[in-house]
Amino acid sequence: MKKIALLIIIGVFVSFMLSCGGETKIKQEETHTEETAITETEDIAMTSEFDLEASISAGESIYTGKGLCQTCHQVDGQGVDGTFPPLASADFVLSDKNAVIKTSIYGTKEPVTVNDVEYPGGMMTPATGLIDEEIRDVVNYVLNSWGNEGGSVLTADVTAQR
Ligand code: HEC
Repeated sequence: MKKIALLIIIGVFVSFMLSCGGETKIKQEETHTEETAITETEDIAMTSEFDLEASISAGESIYTGKGLCQTCHQVDGQGVDGTFPPLASADFVLSDKNAVIKTSIYGTKEPVTVNDVEYPGGMMTPATGLIDEEIRDVVNYVLNSWGNEGGSVLTADVTAQR
């Protein structure tokens, strides 16, 4: 019982320090705490830094923006048969998040096969005008819309694909 109480106290202390931005101090504390407590704090840190719901909703405005994604991939993400590939339930989207980021920025030069249909490539207007945060948001929208459960990406993931 004492051990649990101690863990709770340490947990509260560490999250308090995190919210104060005392990162370096926490590093020292971590060496004294038990592993479960450390994992818990890191989770708290992750969620307080990034709001996925807000990202998805910002991404929707980009997706539906004039001349952007929706123009070709359609409001329901189904694309247009044989011309614009689907994003909804697309094996391409659900298999590789980095490929989704890269394609969202540049389109593709090579032919791409989506759900067994081949598209020639080079037909997508590149979204090079969008900054990394905007690409992150629109990709999070694509990964989490129309029944897709594709996970999420952070700004750093986008930067890595530039
Ligand atoms: C002018 C039409 C057009 C626009 C606008 C467009 N796309 Fe595409 N997109 C395509 C075509 C066509 C392909 C197939 C590859 C190619 O030709 O470059 C494609 C491929 C893709 C793929 C990979 C294949 C798939 O279906 O999973 C993703 C992901 C994608 N687009 C996301 C986006 C996102 C996100 C935006 C907005 C930022 C966007 N596209 C804007 C036409 C478009």
